[in-house]
Amino acid sequence: PTVYSLSAFAEGFPIGVAVSEWNIRNESISNIVIQHFTQVTAENIMKPEVLQPSEDSFDFEKSNELVNFAQTNGISIHGHTLVWHNQSPAWMQGCNDVLDCTNTMNNHITKVVQHFAGEVDSWDVVNEAFLQDGSYRGSADTNDGIAWVEKIGKDYISKAFITARAADTSAELYYNDYNLAFNDAKIDAVITLVEDMKAAETPIDGIAFQMHVTDTYPTIENISAAFQKAVDTGLKVKLSELDVRMNLSGEATALTEVIATAQKNRYAEIIEAYLAVVPKKQRGGISVWGVSDQDSWLSTNENNHPDWPLMFDGDLNQKPAILGFADAM
Ligand code: XIL
Repeated sequence: PTVYSLSAFAEGFPIGVAVSEWNIRNESISNIVIQHFTQVTAENIMKPEVLQPSEDSFDFEKSNELVNFAQTNGISIHGHTLVWHNQSPAWMQGCNDVLDCTNTMNNHITKVVQHFAGEVDSWDVVNEAFLQDGSYRGSADTNDGIAWVEKIGKDYISKAFITARAADTSAELYYNDYNLAFNDAKIDAVITLVEDMKAAETPIDGIAFQMHVTDTYPTIENISAAFQKAVDTGLKVKLSELDVRMNLSGEATALTEVIATAQKNRYAEIIEAYLAVVPKKQRGGISVWGVSDQDSWLSTNENNHPDWPLMFDGDLNQKPAILGFADAM
């Protein structure tokens, strides 16, 4: 059996996919996007290093192409990402003091969000601010990227959200991070941040779980409990970058039927948990991090093992995973 249109199964929330500029130029891939998905995220082309390669000089060429593609096909856009340590231009690193760095950050947010106002429906405003123990990510853990907390202070997050809201009052604003369903310290840090922001009336609409998971981790109990913590804040909950690695150990050399079936069940249990825990009005949607295994950023893992994290194989055929996703809805 094949799934005719994955998004047709979703009631009232977007089903999204990350795409590159060449994905939307490739007819076979863009047809899959149009057929199955109602939202796209730019896998790389809306990141700071692409949008503002040198100071105050913005390059919207590739991202405008994505906006055109989305608008032509009635697809919404989740913007990714305004403030991050990675994939930010080296020149940003050179900002001098709190005031200068705050201006640099705010100028980027303002120009980008204003440029896409009315086109980008929601933004990952801040990405990956916390470490696994719930502390703020400092320069020791930024891989030569920008440690915004050291440049500006802990309130860089609130400042970023306030600036984003001022630039487009109708875009939804998310905090996005990984391992939130894996790690109590990390989800708790995010919940504390969100509660503090709410108490200060700082705008924030949602918590986005990246959801780069494996066949076995985190457990479905951990996932459900973390979703529940996010739901309890009253904000929207989004799964923003879902993919499911099946070969972390590297024992497998090919995607067998056994692995594909296990992956189908894993996709299904995650979608089921989302629908069971997140009430309808708090569902920000579910996005997968790429169309096919061949394009996945995890198609080869750190140890050079092959992997198959997504719902279409390298020949763009549907995998059982998409059935698991559809059945769960
Ligand atoms: C990844 C892209 O998929 C890669 O193509 C790129 O080389 C590095 O970034 N968390 C995020 C995403 O928020 O932006 C990352 O995307 C994956 C992890």
